[in-house]
Amino acid sequence: MAPEKKLVVIVGVTGNQGGSVASRFLSDLLYHIRGLTRDPSSPRARALASKGIEIIAADLDDVATLIPAFRGANLIFSVTNYWEPFFRSDCRAKAAELGVSCRKYAYEVEVRQGRNIAEAVAATVDSLDENGFIASTLSHATRCSRGRFDELYHFDAKADFFPGYVEENHSMLARKTSYVQTGFFMSSYRLAPGAYFRKTDEGSFLMSFPCSRDALVPHLVVNTDLGPFIYAVSKLPPGKRYLAAGTICSWSEYMRIWSKITGNQTSYKEITLQELIENTPDKVFGREVGDMFLYSSNLGYDGGNKTSLKAEDIREVLIVPISLVLIIAVL
Ligand SMILES: NC(=O)c1ccc[n+]([C@@H]2O[C@H](COP(=O)([O-])OP(=O)(O)OC[C@H]3O[C@@H](n4cnc5c(N)ncnc54)[C@H](OP(=O)(O)O)[C@@H]3O)[C@@H](O)[C@H]2O)c1
Repeated sequence: MAPEKKLVVIVGVTGNQGGSVASRFLSDLLYHIRGLTRDPSSPRARALASKGIEIIAADLDDVATLIPAFRGANLIFSVTNYWEPFFRSDCRAKAAELGVSCRKYAYEVEVRQGRNIAEAVAATVDSLDENGFIASTLSHATRCSRGRFDELYHFDAKADFFPGYVEENHSMLARKTSYVQTGFFMSSYRLAPGAYFRKTDEGSFLMSFPCSRDALVPHLVVNTDLGPFIYAVSKLPPGKRYLAAGTICSWSEYMRIWSKITGNQTSYKEITLQELIENTPDKVFGREVGDMFLYSSNLGYDGGNKTSLKAEDIREVLIVPISLVLIIAVL
């Protein structure tokens, strides 16, 4: 008799992180995948549904929609998106009306959504497997830097609720949770064309951040590599912290490798925060990204906590072939 399928629920299934996780779990027949979106009729949601993913409507701003969406789950993967409330014009207008910066406004939205997720996951804690909740997060810049970097909102927001809020308010859930910090996406050069990555007049490619030439930065090809990482984490005991990255190297090394592979001339230049802000059309975006690389340069992207498990620490689980997992499950 075929084993009963486990239910994995994925927040952000139509996005980079959730989409990558869905694609990895799709290749394991032991799982039924349920993905959450605000708009099940979007082309992306319909494409996922056509692959066999159960798509349901839910809104991170409305905990009442999350509770039924998570009910009965064996495993839940969650991600929150700081950048949507940061960039959306109606959110910018709302922030101005409230008299707060759009950075702070997006922080508050993300924290609220994170709490909603935590509350709804806690409501189904009994159905979760031993390691049943995997939360995408980042390091807490304010705490790790002892207040020196106290405006790195898209880092602090995530760390405020994963692990912060969960550990403080839901001890049973905390015992079933793993936290995964995600490295800087290799696709992020597209976020602000010309700001920190551009072709020079001489035809070479220049990357420039307020980050020292030698500071190590975790780099992640989110769409292909996060899914296998999260899948591997789900096979491990709960309560651990991870850093998902394919390569951890400095920007100067990154550009050297890129040059070697593509044959293009490349270089890396350390610039000041002010220069990055000047180069960025959306100045507040320049400030948020600039703060991230100053923090990475001074403390480390992970806040200087070197205990997070990385790909090399879990490689044995990362490379277990699916057929072997199936055999183990059947036995
Ligand atoms: N860029 C980087 O280098 C980097 C590095 C590390 C971490 N991060 C973090 O990654 C996060 C973004 O992840 P991503 O790239 O996977 O995002 P993404 O591709 O932009 O997708 C966002 C996902 O979140 C869902 N979503 C957003 N608001 C929602 C709401 N109110 N209710 C339900 N679902 C909602 C969207 O679903 P629908 O639109 O279908 O509803 C979509 O699936 C950000 O918080 C960022 O800080 C980024």
